[in-house]
Amino acid sequence: MAQDAASVRPSSGRSPDDMPTSFGFSTVGEGEKQGLVNDVFHKVAERYDIMNDLMSGGLHRVWKDAMVSVLAPPKTPASEWTLLDVAGGTGDVATKVVRRSNESVKAVVCDINNSMLNVGQDRATKAGLSELVRFSQGNAEDLPFPDKSFDAYTIAFGIRNVPDIPKALREAHRVLKRGGRFLCLEFSEVDVPMLDKVYDAFSFNAIPAMGKMVTGDGEPYRYLVESIRKFPHQEQFARMIREAGFERVTYRNYSGGIAALHTGWKY
Ligand SMILES: C[S@@+](CC[C@H](N)C(=O)[O-])C[C@H]1O[C@@H](n2cnc3c(N)ncnc32)[C@H](O)[C@@H]1O
Repeated sequence: MAQDAASVRPSSGRSPDDMPTSFGFSTVGEGEKQGLVNDVFHKVAERYDIMNDLMSGGLHRVWKDAMVSVLAPPKTPASEWTLLDVAGGTGDVATKVVRRSNESVKAVVCDINNSMLNVGQDRATKAGLSELVRFSQGNAEDLPFPDKSFDAYTIAFGIRNVPDIPKALREAHRVLKRGGRFLCLEFSEVDVPMLDKVYDAFSFNAIPAMGKMVTGDGEPYRYLVESIRKFPHQEQFARMIREAGFERVTYRNYSGGIAALHTGWKY
């Protein structure tokens, strides 16, 4: 995990800088986006967990717990059962899954950013979970794992940061075993009248201000808020997951659509 995010191989196959994509409300080349996203998470890594609590009023824990309940990791697996948590950052979801299984499953946290992974590795060690939760640096668009190697794939608040989302979804499908489960938790489109207005006012004003207060820099948090607004609508994202090969794709909204959980199966 010692290498810097910039040295993780970029996704290949075309000239990434030529492909326009969004970085918050700005349009940048795909290659450029990953570097900008990496800068954001290098800056916020040390304060990431506390900012998550502040920004969501603790709701991210409730949504992640709900995601783990939907996954329902086995407590007595017939054979070794392993989760891949992509863009797993500080290992929140992986840790919850391992704990929910009464420590009978294993998890690999894969993230492009070594600053986030280092914070997660320290946390897992302190929690006595370093044997069960492993940390691996890698790009969601080009996962460093063989085909059909995981029983479940989770990605929480990560996919909107990935420049080529369809490619990341195809990679999720590739690394899952047959019968494997895909779960994606992401900020989404609010579908409750008035809540959308309150949410917008809070996001665009309070979140960058809180970020500046806690970390000294509001800009990374402005990106986080803008990137949420650029993410596809729930239905459109469900279509993208189907196009990657997943079946029985559904979604449910949490807190009026502030977050949504999309799920699918690989058969
Ligand atoms: C908002 S954080 C989410 C972290 C964690 N899943 C959680 O819910 O607390 C987004 C994470 O996505 C990671 N990320 C961004 N682009 C990535 C990519 N192409 N491949 C893997 N991880 C990526 C970032 O480094 C960051 O840790």
